[in-house]
Amino acid sequence: MRECLKSNDERIRFLFIPLGMTNKIFGCEITKSAELGVSFGSSTLCPGACHAEIRNNQEKERSMHSLTRRNFMRIGAGSVAAGAAAKITLLEPAALWGQGQAVAPSDRIHFASIGTGTRGCELLAASLAVPGVECVAVCDLYDSRHEAAQEAVQKQVPATRNYKEILDRKDVDAVIVAVPDHQHRRIVVDACAAGKDVYIEKPMSHTVEDGFAMVDAVRKGNRILQVGSQRVSSIVYEKARELYSSGALGDVFFIEGSSDRNSPSGAWVYPIPADASEQTIDWDEFLVGAPKRPFDAARFFRWRCFFDYGEGLAGDLFVHLLSGIYFITGTNEAPKRAQSSGGLFRWKDGRDFPDVIETLYDYPKFRVLLRCNLNNAGGEPIRFHGTKGTMEIIGQTLTFTPQDTSPKPETYSTKGWPERLRKEYLAQWAAEHPQPAPLDFQAEEAETFTAPQGYSDVSAHEANFFTAVRTRKPTIENEEFGNHAAIGCHLANYAYFKNTIATWDAAAKTIRG
Ligand SMILES: NC(=O)c1ccc[n+]([C@@H]2O[C@H](COP(=O)([O-])OP(=O)(O)OC[C@H]3O[C@@H](n4cnc5c(N)ncnc54)[C@H](O)[C@@H]3O)[C@@H](O)[C@H]2O)c1
Repeated sequence: MRECLKSNDERIRFLFIPLGMTNKIFGCEITKSAELGVSFGSSTLCPGACHAEIRNNQEKERSMHSLTRRNFMRIGAGSVAAGAAAKITLLEPAALWGQGQAVAPSDRIHFASIGTGTRGCELLAASLAVPGVECVAVCDLYDSRHEAAQEAVQKQVPATRNYKEILDRKDVDAVIVAVPDHQHRRIVVDACAAGKDVYIEKPMSHTVEDGFAMVDAVRKGNRILQVGSQRVSSIVYEKARELYSSGALGDVFFIEGSSDRNSPSGAWVYPIPADASEQTIDWDEFLVGAPKRPFDAARFFRWRCFFDYGEGLAGDLFVHLLSGIYFITGTNEAPKRAQSSGGLFRWKDGRDFPDVIETLYDYPKFRVLLRCNLNNAGGEPIRFHGTKGTMEIIGQTLTFTPQDTSPKPETYSTKGWPERLRKEYLAQWAAEHPQPAPLDFQAEEAETFTAPQGYSDVSAHEANFFTAVRTRKPTIENEEFGNHAAIGCHLANYAYFKNTIATWDAAAKTIRG
């Protein structure tokens, strides 16, 4: 608790979005004070439970470094003011490897970044929070991004336009690759051949063939690879996975997720920097693996809009939803088939991809419905609809709402029965179902779990990668997982653009229409 509160000095604030049956929970604020409690509007709830947490602080801090302890703690107990029952749990991040210790030089990992654009710089900045790692070089095709990378990593590391110079360096153990998707394959394949472990950004592949080429390269080179969908390392998703596998949701046959935005930035209409030109950008190198064409800054900076370099909304956003669903449900296979609909309605700037896409996927045990819409800021909810309850994740907050599945006599269809038959049926039902004590079958109240303010699943994901580099144990989001999630994206686009049901032929490693 103290660790979490330190992150914001005085208090942690978080907003609960109304969630179906849990809409009692609004604007909840946890304060660090002698009166520590959970407040809803002006009323403070369950201070006793929180005081207990403070008393237990020393014990909790002792267990901070244990990897086996349950990595969450209870802040609020359920029994609160009448009519406002709720359970709120602040999840506690597991300590990162080496955190709070001096890391021996032999345990330090030297890495380099290839591609230091928007994501590359984010990853460099996040790496500063990962103990025992050090960036020793950076690479990008655009000179100003050398400067941006050095600012992000807060030191003057050597910078180059040529990634092969990075791979030739003996002091580089691993590379973080954050280049446009059409360049993933060649850099991953070359990095594996050069004996480097690879953190490759999502989606792993630009095409189905690229994905399998990367899987082969990782295996041939005996390398560690992690794909960059960071929610796979999030404490919120870990809690969701725990709930899912506990059976609390019952059987889950339907999962839905969306990623909706309503801004030029959300639609990838990124500004073009004033110094962008063929002199400052290695345009020919950017085009490797794509058709030749004259210099076009819009294509360089807004590459997600075009077939030649990206996969549109499916590759950019479905992949995060799918990776999260895979992690929670323990799925590691491509969908059996996909059906898509959508259209380009608003962002008609010459792009190849639609600004609305909805895809229904068939997996053996459930169906998954995903949607991206660039015309409304709907956020990124994922919902698991189970026979015993609904689990919803929005951002860093997870809510599980159980459903009342207690046995009851059927009363709807008996409205069309004469009273004597209805009474007879109810009497027989009551005889066959001795009444339990009223509380025995009462559905429990909704329970919410949230990450502390300032929590970064990006640093956690990077830390997991570097831990795998040290231990040589495969990452969770390894080449197979990443390939399967990316195939889901390719199926969505295939179905949309070919106006057909896309089926995955696993034996032939290909999509069929
Ligand atoms: N995990 C996430 O949440 C997340 C977020 C954003 C982007 N991404 C992924 O990160 C990758 C990069 O996206 P971005 O938004 O940073 O794009 P960006 O255009 O901002 O940056 C990409 C950079 O890669 C460089 N590059 C291209 N080819 C190169 C090569 N051969 N050698 C060296 N540098 C090269 C370009 O010069 C550019 O600066 C994509 O795969 C994207 O899907 C992931």
